[in-house]
Amino acid sequence: MRLTGVLAIAAGLLLAASAVLAQPPAAPPRPTPKPGYVVPPENSAGLYPVAGEPIFKAKCAQCHEAKEGHDPAVGRAPAKELLAARAPEEVYDALTIGAMKPMAAGLSEAELYGLTRFITGKSPVPNAPPVADTNLCKTNGPLQPNGPQWNGWGRDLANSRYQPKPGFAAADIPRLKVKWAFAYPGTKNTEPLIFGDRVYVASMSGKLYSLDARTGCVHWRYDWRGSARASMSIGRLKTAPSGWALYLGDDRMFVHAFDAASGKELWKTLTGDHKVGRITGSPALYDGVLYVPLSASEESQGNVAAYGCCTFIGTVVAVSAADGKVLWRRAILDEPPHPTRKNPAGTQMYGPAGGSIWSAPTIDAKAGQLYVATGDSYTEVEHKTSDAVLAMDLKTGAIRWANQVLAQDNFMSGTVNGPLGTRGPDFDFGSSPNLAELPGGKRLVITGNKSSIVYAMDPATGKTVWQTPKLGSGSALGGVEWGPATDGRTFFAALADPPGRGRPGLVALDVATGKELWRVDAPKGLPCNVPSGRCSPSFSQAVTAVPGAVFAGAQDGRLRAYSTADGKLLWEVDTTTPQDTVNGIKAAPGGSLDMGGPTVAGGMMFVHSGYNGSAGASNLLLAFSVDGK
Ligand code: HEC
Repeated sequence: MRLTGVLAIAAGLLLAASAVLAQPPAAPPRPTPKPGYVVPPENSAGLYPVAGEPIFKAKCAQCHEAKEGHDPAVGRAPAKELLAARAPEEVYDALTIGAMKPMAAGLSEAELYGLTRFITGKSPVPNAPPVADTNLCKTNGPLQPNGPQWNGWGRDLANSRYQPKPGFAAADIPRLKVKWAFAYPGTKNTEPLIFGDRVYVASMSGKLYSLDARTGCVHWRYDWRGSARASMSIGRLKTAPSGWALYLGDDRMFVHAFDAASGKELWKTLTGDHKVGRITGSPALYDGVLYVPLSASEESQGNVAAYGCCTFIGTVVAVSAADGKVLWRRAILDEPPHPTRKNPAGTQMYGPAGGSIWSAPTIDAKAGQLYVATGDSYTEVEHKTSDAVLAMDLKTGAIRWANQVLAQDNFMSGTVNGPLGTRGPDFDFGSSPNLAELPGGKRLVITGNKSSIVYAMDPATGKTVWQTPKLGSGSALGGVEWGPATDGRTFFAALADPPGRGRPGLVALDVATGKELWRVDAPKGLPCNVPSGRCSPSFSQAVTAVPGAVFAGAQDGRLRAYSTADGKLLWEVDTTTPQDTVNGIKAAPGGSLDMGGPTVAGGMMFVHSGYNGSAGASNLLLAFSVDGK
């Protein structure tokens, strides 16, 4: 016999009232997973998790936890171990539209996600009900592969973040105006990819758009149960109907290939199986291979007592761009995590772990190797390649050298699973290495980390050639965050230091020596419209250089251009200013500027405004051109 949903709820309430039922009713039908939920809270991928365990203890354990004398749990309530095997969507649905709705009453969306994660070890994947786009393009002309481009994270294989042909002169930058704005959901976004007359963007809401660069009309949209923040790239692919494939790495470690003209999915590959693994750095596309950097949100499992911490090790996966086949996989450490001790709750701990690769690999075709920069270690077990720059063989993944700039930076947010001994300062490399070629042909691998130090290394040996003193205070969210830029002579590093405790701003260094050429401090005390407490003037967003100018975005939403010669301010715009968008939303506000930086080509500049929910429900993609023409 099957009970209706109402009866199931009544049965649940009855159970809640009387601890044990003598005669349990027959099982109700399972709610069909019918996700009506839209955007997951930012913690859904475990990034800022609400710990589910205390909620489970308070609201669920009395029926779902096996106790002495009750086997396995109260009445027919499945034991937690059994629930763990369910799909996260199923558990989420049981709590929101199914039998457990009354038990979960009053829980916030973030708590529901945290609870689901605690039970299943995974987050439910959002699936927005498809809403048709209002501004479809009237025509879908052929791709323009010979047109202007900003392809991949750093525009070129060297990750210079320098556009030699922006399509406007530095003298015209003061006349840059918003040409169009496009609003769409998602708390973090991929950098806008420019390919001829199209621009491609995706976000944490699981929507990928191909837009017209000049008007913002929609060529196509792809929705998937996932989310993305890693930048995309486009490459030639004979088997794609248009001859060109668009590649995307998502927040659940899938790499997808689409036909760049139509959006038809060509293949999809899962690049890892770690439960909190993800792709935050852009897969680098070179010579038919995608080099995919894996990272994880394991660092934020520090207060989840039942989490067997930590087991993730930074990894590069080489994937065939033709069909998604995995060619090789290389962890940055040979030693796999092994059992170490038990945490205070009795859960088995593991190590070594850590060294997430947050940023895009850098390709050195000449030397046949790639460079990646890594994050901190999560445990007290020695980790020789955390906070390091590594060179790997392009063909095999073999590690040719590793330069660890800070040992024993053992860090977790939270203390239950936290590393024993002294806690590290959390000085990850969040930025891609830049492969700079100096006049005269000498080459250097240059990058900075959250300590606010910039390092230059020899591509052949990995030895440090120069390093700066601390350029600011550095901190867990300070120093060099998402990405510097270089025009080959000057290296521009943005500093995200918090005001008051550090020196947020932009520093220009001589590429050959690391000598400071000029610096601008981020203006403080300006009015700020960012709604979520991120009203900081700090420069965390990746910077972008063009001949004569460098663009730097601030967390308070201001985007500025400075002269590369002396740091003189050329232009400033407040991207939080509400815009009427081409997809029909009136007065949509922007928000923080962070992570992916402005992309420039063909006389246009694109930038996302609204990071981490700081633009409320929508983010703005802003398209700038000279005089808005
Ligand atoms: C008063 C006892 C009780 C409490 C409290 C309770 N449950 Fe349940 N739960 C049950 C019973 C009994 C079932 C079996 C469902 C059925 O057959 O009606 C169940 C089933 C479930 C299922 C499977 C649902 C399905 O349709 O297959 C999930 C998931 C679940 N519970 C999660 C939770 C969570 C999470 C909490 C805490 C917010 C919770 N439960 C609180 C008694 C309880």
